[in-house]
Amino acid sequence: MTVRSRIIGCGSYLPSTILTNEELASRVDTSDEWITARTGIKQRHIAAEGETTSDLAVNAARMAMDHAGITAADIDLIIVATATPDNTFPATATKVQARLGVTGFAFDIQAVCSGFIYALTTADMYIRNGQAKTALVIGAETFSRILDWEDRRTCVLFGDGAGAVIVQATTGTGSTDDQGILASRLHSDGSKYELLYVDGGPSSTQTVGHVQMEGKEVFRHAVTNLASVIHEVLADTGMDIHDIDWLVPHQANRRILDGTARKFGISPDKVVITVDRHANTSAASIPLALSEAVHDGRIKRGQIIILEAMGGGFTWGASLIRW
Ligand code: ACO
Repeated sequence: MTVRSRIIGCGSYLPSTILTNEELASRVDTSDEWITARTGIKQRHIAAEGETTSDLAVNAARMAMDHAGITAADIDLIIVATATPDNTFPATATKVQARLGVTGFAFDIQAVCSGFIYALTTADMYIRNGQAKTALVIGAETFSRILDWEDRRTCVLFGDGAGAVIVQATTGTGSTDDQGILASRLHSDGSKYELLYVDGGPSSTQTVGHVQMEGKEVFRHAVTNLASVIHEVLADTGMDIHDIDWLVPHQANRRILDGTARKFGISPDKVVITVDRHANTSAASIPLALSEAVHDGRIKRGQIIILEAMGGGFTWGASLIRW
């Protein structure tokens, strides 16, 4: 008998304000044509004044709990992946815990755009170790608060949002026929720090700072690292890319998504895409995309899906799941 972590519910939340490329072009020197051609992004959601990461997270969590048919009393672990916490401390996850009325323990994970894969993998460890039975795993970001809105190279790329999943212990046979997380791999390479970082923080500048990025270099590393980590989770399970029903990637840029799919010969209709409507919501992008594809009926029980992400650090990772 093997303990597996199965995703039993998904939820999402997007702030109501939409900022289109055309509106952005009236504020900075850019155009819908440039943004669409380079990134595939058409619009992004922006949190309202006073609306925080924990607000977004709680909304997504409530939807995931309803979908799973559980209450706060069932949850014993909350992990929030975020690079834009409400406060330097305490963890945003503890705020979410208080708002939902959950006991147990809660903490944040900081792996930027790979945060959701890191958080899901961590929850899987706690579940398989027997330290948690039902975990709420959230990716939530208000990236609009760490953008320099006069820097056209970065401000066009990101948006705000939150996605959440409920992960529960289940028993399996240990084979790849089991439902749940079948393999996960995480990586980081701190030597690439300067290619994507925020130029502020409590210990360095005592300010929040803004996103800084060498776009071309990030692009090059993203396609290579994502391809290699997908190979790893396939090898771990003895599966082939043809066994995959859905790829649910971190939504950074349409060209990265297309490049990764092309590298593997995955048909574009097996890739869940939200970047056109959400832009890059960092740790929130995978659970937002996952929730959309589960709720609209594309992802079905028994199917094989791969989640993958790469972000600042660099960090990258993937999870292979039988839904
Ligand atoms: N509007 C109009 N022109 C722009 C804009 C803009 N928003 N931004 C940059 N430009 C200009 C530049 O100034 C430059 O002009 P110049 O030639 O006169 O100097 C020209 O466009 C080309 O700039 P590049 O930076 O070379 O553009 P590139 O083709 O590399 O595209 C982009 C930039 C879209 C950021 C690309 O490098 C990319 O997609 N990188 C991946 C980064 C990414 O997705 N990061 C997200 C976070 S990391 C992650 O989640 C994986």
